[in-house]
Amino acid sequence: MEIIAGIKLKPTVHSRIDEADLSDPGFGKYMSDHMFTCKFIDGEWMAAQVIPFGDMLISPAALALHYGQSVFEGMKAFRMQDGRINIFRLEKHWERLNSSLHRMCMPKIPKELFTGSLRQLVDIDRNWVPMKADTALYLRPFVFASEAKMGVKVSEEYTFVIITGPVEIIYAKPIRVKVEREFIRAAKGGTGYAKCSGNYGAAFYPTQQAKAQGYDQVLWTDATEHQYIEESGMMNVMFIINDKLITPALSDSILDGVTRDSLIVLAREMGLQVEERKIGVDELKLAFLNKTITEAFGAGTAAVVAPIATIGIDEREYHLPAYSGSNIMFKLKSRLDALRTGIEKDVFRWNSIID
Ligand SMILES: Cc1ncc(COP(=O)(O)O)c(C=O)c1O
Repeated sequence: MEIIAGIKLKPTVHSRIDEADLSDPGFGKYMSDHMFTCKFIDGEWMAAQVIPFGDMLISPAALALHYGQSVFEGMKAFRMQDGRINIFRLEKHWERLNSSLHRMCMPKIPKELFTGSLRQLVDIDRNWVPMKADTALYLRPFVFASEAKMGVKVSEEYTFVIITGPVEIIYAKPIRVKVEREFIRAAKGGTGYAKCSGNYGAAFYPTQQAKAQGYDQVLWTDATEHQYIEESGMMNVMFIINDKLITPALSDSILDGVTRDSLIVLAREMGLQVEERKIGVDELKLAFLNKTITEAFGAGTAAVVAPIATIGIDEREYHLPAYSGSNIMFKLKSRLDALRTGIEKDVFRWNSIID
């Protein structure tokens, strides 16, 4: 096992791996044996350690619990075809975490700390990385304000934690999404581009309403006109219209998805025309009317590619044609799978391999 300098290691004496079904892990059901923790005190990250997974002691006055200074990442480590393990796009996730931290007035995580802690943690729990197609070890780094203080203020102390667990993809079957025209997820100048916890808590109520109406997820629209498609709950969104891949351009109200970015690179490489631009709800309706829209899908770490079967727009439902293996989204997914499992050469240098 590789030992990263400066990270204290306290392995568990009782592995729980026999209690987990790695061939059918679901999502979020199992936590691996270990976790990483580190503290930011007096302007420095310190006390980095890999320890057995377990409860943490937090003051009820910890500022994150009251004022929401809390950000996270969601990423995956894959079992490669030769048995080695690959953490996908480590650097891009690190950049996004730091961008979220900056927006929330929280201290940045040095690159060596982020990459070193993840490598160490994945290495010690390498047996938890499942083998089956469409499974992975989900990695959840997060940082929260842990200073215990009463009063609305920027915290001076933080805790950086990473937990992991085996997962399979969510939304494997085509989903139903509702274009949300009343509630908003993010506004211009807000925190939409940051992966901060409050964005998710605020999205629960409208999402629950959509679920009660028979949908799996909402498709958010812009906060000003409720006219332009932004993204879905935990995914960016992509459409194939007139054989072009069209996706909303990034802005301060849309998360810069790592899957979105990867699929765009692959699509362009495969000779597909890609347009990153505004997409109006009216344009979508017209594309359904003219039958020029052939695919719609979510793109995100948890789902990878989530086929959309139905889009609800203003009390009407619009249906996509039935999907088959020849759809562009599945070709893109296959290429992404091949790249991160080592079937295809890592020409984009997206893989961080643990030998
Ligand atoms: C709001 C939101 N948009 C998009 C995404 C997709 O991002 P990624 O591909 O980096 O997982 C996620 C998932 O993390 C998300 O939570």
